[in-house]
Amino acid sequence: MQQHSTGILSRFKLTSTVVLAFMLHCLTTILAKILQAFVNIVLTLCDAQDSVVMFAPYYFNSYMSFQMTGVTDILVGPGDLNTLYPDADWLEATLQQRKPTPKLVTVVNPGNPSGTYIPAPLLQRISDICKKAGCWLVVDNTYEYFMYDSRKHVCVEDDHIVNIFSFSKAYGMMGWRVGYIAYPSEVKGLAEQLLKVQDNIPICASVISQQLALRKMTAK
Ligand SMILES: Cc1ncc(COP(=O)(O)O)c(C=O)c1O
Repeated sequence: MQQHSTGILSRFKLTSTVVLAFMLHCLTTILAKILQAFVNIVLTLCDAQDSVVMFAPYYFNSYMSFQMTGVTDILVGPGDLNTLYPDADWLEATLQQRKPTPKLVTVVNPGNPSGTYIPAPLLQRISDICKKAGCWLVVDNTYEYFMYDSRKHVCVEDDHIVNIFSFSKAYGMMGWRVGYIAYPSEVKGLAEQLLKVQDNIPICASVISQQLALRKMTAK
């Protein structure tokens, strides 16, 4: 779906490498929904005994996605008591001390159930901490358009980051079940493994849903 890829791409400042990943992904494996996207990522990146990191208050479905795929060492970091922002100092200390290093850190931005967004400098710091530790960062951007008071939603991109997006909230398409993953194409084997998981679960999102998603994105 070339036009769909282009529509998605126009919303981000992406490097050419990531653009390729986006297009490859959107051409081949638009997901049946973002919950499936998260499970696909866990199946792709994690092994059953791995540690992973989330922050309180966390999105319960992500927690269950770890549990049901055998990833039961789930470290839950604190959120700031006033802002509910993920505690980056805790993350830094945890990723330095914990051996073996947790495989993956996940945040939801803006958050469910916190309702708060992660400011760009904090998101970048979380990304830098993950990169230094050799840990994946998975950002759930389901509520990317739920930003108020002139605040702007931002994404971070790098070769250790996977961003996931949904049409459910952003385009009012809950029942149509369409979402997508933006992943770094330069990581060897990642695309193949993501596609392998996708091919064994839904194969693809329904074509009629993809067509509606395309029309929603290109509507004036
Ligand atoms: C944080 C978060 N991620 C993902 C989802 C699921 O999105 P989808 O409808 O695309 O499966 C929800 C839905 O409530 C959500 O709150």
